[in-house]
Amino acid sequence: LGGVKMLETELLVVGGGVAGAYATLTARSYGADVLLACKTPLVGGSTRWAQGGIAAPLAHGDEDAHAQDTVKAGRGLCEPEAVQAFVRDARSHVETLRDLGVTFSPHATLEGGHSRARIRHQGDATGHAISVALAEALQAGRSPALRVMEHAFVRNLRVSGGAVVGADLLTPDGPVRVRAGAVLLATGGFGRLYPVTTAPPEGTGDGLGLAWQAGAALRDLEFVQFHPTAVVRDGAAHLVTEAARGEGGRLLNARGERFMERYDPALELAPRDVVARAIAAEIAATGRVDLDLRHLGAAFVRSRFPTVTASLAPLGLDLGADLIPVQPAVHYTMGGVQTDVQGRSTVPGLYAAGEVASSGLHGANRLASNSLSEGLVFGARAARAALAALKAVPTRSDGLHAPLVDPACLPDLRAVVAGAAGLRRDAAGLRAALVGWQWPTVTAESRESLEAGHLALIGERLLRAALAREESRGGHHRTDFPREAASAAHSVQSRALGGQVT
Ligand code: SIN
Repeated sequence: LGGVKMLETELLVVGGGVAGAYATLTARSYGADVLLACKTPLVGGSTRWAQGGIAAPLAHGDEDAHAQDTVKAGRGLCEPEAVQAFVRDARSHVETLRDLGVTFSPHATLEGGHSRARIRHQGDATGHAISVALAEALQAGRSPALRVMEHAFVRNLRVSGGAVVGADLLTPDGPVRVRAGAVLLATGGFGRLYPVTTAPPEGTGDGLGLAWQAGAALRDLEFVQFHPTAVVRDGAAHLVTEAARGEGGRLLNARGERFMERYDPALELAPRDVVARAIAAEIAATGRVDLDLRHLGAAFVRSRFPTVTASLAPLGLDLGADLIPVQPAVHYTMGGVQTDVQGRSTVPGLYAAGEVASSGLHGANRLASNSLSEGLVFGARAARAALAALKAVPTRSDGLHAPLVDPACLPDLRAVVAGAAGLRRDAAGLRAALVGWQWPTVTAESRESLEAGHLALIGERLLRAALAREESRGGHHRTDFPREAASAAHSVQSRALGGQVT
């Protein structure tokens, strides 16, 4: 252990987006000693990029309707206990954000799948506002009992007697071993398994890879959500928030037809999977699809959506005045580390919250804008549950890291995954992708080779889960099994089960 710095804490939180930051503040509010490690600066992850807003039943009596909308989008795979916990807890956490200085517009907006306008926002930069407030609260609370390590990458979890008891970190100051009473993963999703995604560069599935190596069960990895409206240029996806359709935006094909009437009575505000597949079909049939906001008035559009306006301007597109060419792009990964409603994984001492987790809230298709509020609700729950069951920290433990994969192979790996497990899949394509699923390894251990290792590991797991799901449900559409099966079942896999998908 020469040269390895040793640290000890009650709770190690990994990841600095909304779930990790809020879990850390919650744990500290209970008096715990907590260490937050994130590979980015605070507050990173997709939180700061979230445009649309935060969905919560703030209006009196909206809990049941919000729960029903969530369950309807989830196509039979939402866990009722998780949905109930979510609608029950969300309001008070949104109030806490207000106490931390986040202001929301008084006007609630609509997005796909919501039966009423309940999404609160700060223009189209809601996630950024939440990130700033959480980062300030963490900075203000810094003390020996609230430590934040930025640019700290978790190499592996440490396990003793079947329980997670800490982690090994790569940091700019050298290796660090953290002995912890519990570890809470809040590392976000794995959108970067795909070439065209709205996920931030850090979305490399690290938490899933770490949990897999520690023996925890992963659930429903095949459910990948495609956002219907991204502007894609030079391989980069620029998100155009769903709230643009919530405010009345229309989708037109190359013939100028408002085609959604042929796909769903809710038109542009149908659930995301429906709109995304419709757009892909119309692009295939007619050559292009545009988002049209011109009838809303250029001044309103530019002031309501300043972030999108600014991101499209360098591409020569004026959101208020032009037809905006859009296409689906990978946006959110519903599957993740299987947890119960308290954020407990299947391995003692290991917790997960936010996009890294499969908490049971989203089922087969996440309802728009439920993820910021999910991060608050389940970040807080997981922190509380972890503190209630802290493990004594043993002196001996083991740690298994992901394979060290050559990052140079990532473009090929992503192309294989996107080709086989895109919006539409079939058994032949999935089987072909799995043949020889071996990626070149390197000896140099680095954040990049470990991230590539996590992506290679999760890519294989996703392909296996997608092959095993012989039906179409929510975000998962099999052209060889176009119907939904009569009963809904999760897919679960773990090293402990020999990697079998059950
Ligand atoms: C968006 O603004 O369309 C993204 C909202 C979400 O993914 O929940």
